[in-house]
Amino acid sequence: MFKVKCFLVAVLVSFSAATVADHLSDHSVEKRIKPSGSVYLEGDDVPVAKPAEVATTGPRTAKSIYETKCAACHATDALGAPVFGNAESWAPRLGKGEEMIISNAINGINAMPPMGTCMDCSTDEIADTVKYMLENSK
Ligand code: HEC
Repeated sequence: MFKVKCFLVAVLVSFSAATVADHLSDHSVEKRIKPSGSVYLEGDDVPVAKPAEVATTGPRTAKSIYETKCAACHATDALGAPVFGNAESWAPRLGKGEEMIISNAINGINAMPPMGTCMDCSTDEIADTVKYMLENSK
């Protein structure tokens, strides 16, 4: 009986010694005192969240802007607008030069509203649309 007790004590002592040793090992101490957040340092591989794919219909073409915003007046001579595809109605305007014509489309001229009513168009889009209209009205 004494022998068995001795054995048990020996097992217990060696077991707990191992547990304590493990508990105090560099690795486990490091783990326990580690700051809860982590930072990326320069040069680290930082995972980058990819922006969600945005469904767009793509950039508007001059043709689509013309058709949706300008044709209402320019497909006919509504209010005296020069007619798309009609070289004669554009002819008297060409003398002032493309730049001036574009600037008039952006700022408006007489019954021609500024930006041709396309208030969400950029000036580049208006310029491209004017070029498209001129190109197709020769
Ligand atoms: C509400 C009617 C209307 C809409 C919409 C309209 N226009 Fe006009 N536009 C006119 C009229 C009217 C004129 C003639 C103005 C004048 O010279 O008296 C004109 C003239 C122009 C001219 C000639 C400018 C010049 O210097 O001679 C251009 C270029 C033009 N429009 C471009 C556009 C574009 C591009 C759009 C669409 C983004 C557009 N317009 C939409 C009525 C319109």
